[in-house]
Amino acid sequence: MQIIEIMEKTFEAESGDIALYLAMSKKAADDGDSEIARYLYNVAMEEANHAMDFAILLGKVKDTRSNLTMMLEAEIRSEKERGEAAKTALAQGNKEAFQYFERSMHDEKRHKAGLKVILSKLQEKD
Ligand SMILES: [Fe+2]
Ligand SMILES: [Fe+2]
Repeated sequence: MQIIEIMEKTFEAESGDIALYLAMSKKAADDGDSEIARYLYNVAMEEANHAMDFAILLGKVKDTRSNLTMMLEAEIRSEKERGEAAKTALAQGNKEAFQYFERSMHDEKRHKAGLKVILSKLQEKD
């Protein structure tokens, strides 16, 4: 396997680990194990740093304007996809999944709006 391919797989694995450790940290916190929750949270942040390193090494990060533009497009896509997934969840009677998709759709919408504001402020500077 080529090293670039290994790096891509590592980026994906590290990114997945962030979510898993955060979810496990939340579980521990909900169970009242705050020390374990804190530890798992800190590991999640270290995994985030590993993912960050590979994102940079793989050239996923450009100049700030390009980064913002790329992520704005991604958020527009995410909002649409979460909305469609929410409809599918509802149609299939999965109320819990529907609620999560709805909530993340609203978050993606907020991310989109925030990125638009930052981008237009950047344009004003020109
Ligand atoms: Fe890691
Ligand atoms: Fe988002």
